[in-house]
Amino acid sequence: MMALLEARGLVKIFGKLTALNGADLTVAENEFHGLIGPNGSGKSTLMKCVAGAEIPTSGTVTFGGHDISRASPADRARAGMSLKFQITSVLPALTLYDNILLALQAQTSLPRLVFSRTRGILHDRVMAMLEQFRLVDRAMDPASALSHGQQQWLEIAMALAPEPKLLLLDEPTGGMSLEERRVTGELLQPIKKRCSLVIVEHDLDFIRDICDRLTVLDQGAVLDCGTVQHIQSSARVQEVYLRRA
Ligand SMILES: Nc1ncnc2c1ncn2[C@@H]1O[C@H](COP(=O)(O)OP(=O)(O)OP(=O)(O)O)[C@@H](O)[C@H]1O
Ligand SMILES: [Mg+2]
Repeated sequence: MMALLEARGLVKIFGKLTALNGADLTVAENEFHGLIGPNGSGKSTLMKCVAGAEIPTSGTVTFGGHDISRASPADRARAGMSLKFQITSVLPALTLYDNILLALQAQTSLPRLVFSRTRGILHDRVMAMLEQFRLVDRAMDPASALSHGQQQWLEIAMALAPEPKLLLLDEPTGGMSLEERRVTGELLQPIKKRCSLVIVEHDLDFIRDICDRLTVLDQGAVLDCGTVQHIQSSARVQEVYLRRA
């Protein structure tokens, strides 16, 4: 079967620094794929090259069989990519309901919004997202009233609202308590039926539990890639993690 996402030979050079040095990433439909590696190994840069926030110096990105290497972030979003990065996109003064509604409307054309029937559908979808992320009781609270963990869940809900084919999450559990991490894993499980996921994480226990396959980056290149089992027994991976431990 053709992969949903294929990044090949990505190189990204910032001045004198080579952030990516020929990195590959392949993600199948409905696959949960973890991206791990030491600090500064190029994980975020790879995610940005996939999402279009950075244009690689060389290399290609195909999505659903189309070459999108030089497509704008907006075109990639229309093609079915959605992302949540380390920087927040929540509007704190707005209610949770309105934050999700905005995320949905960004993907809906104006003529469709004019029809009240569509607005009814939007309402149902907003409520469904809040329900799914256990935030329905807080629907009319301002986003600023949420705990750190809940704000992260709201952002994931916003990223999922337009029903993407691929969700990109860069360290979604950063700053979360152990319990919030556990809940995050639970909240992500059901989306597997609908889309693929690429997730960057430092917490190996967390990523091992939710991912089908892992890619390990080191100094901008792929150190190893495969099932969680394969990575756990990889001598090359162990060497890098021990070297830094
Ligand atoms: N816009 C930029 N300009 C210059 N250098 C950059 C830029 N973005 C990233 N880098 C550098 O590229 C390298 C890879 O950074 P990147 O953020 O991709 O790593 P990372 O694996 O996500 O690290 P972390 O685990 O700390 O989040 C680092 O040395 C970083 O300083
Ligand atoms: Mg990063």
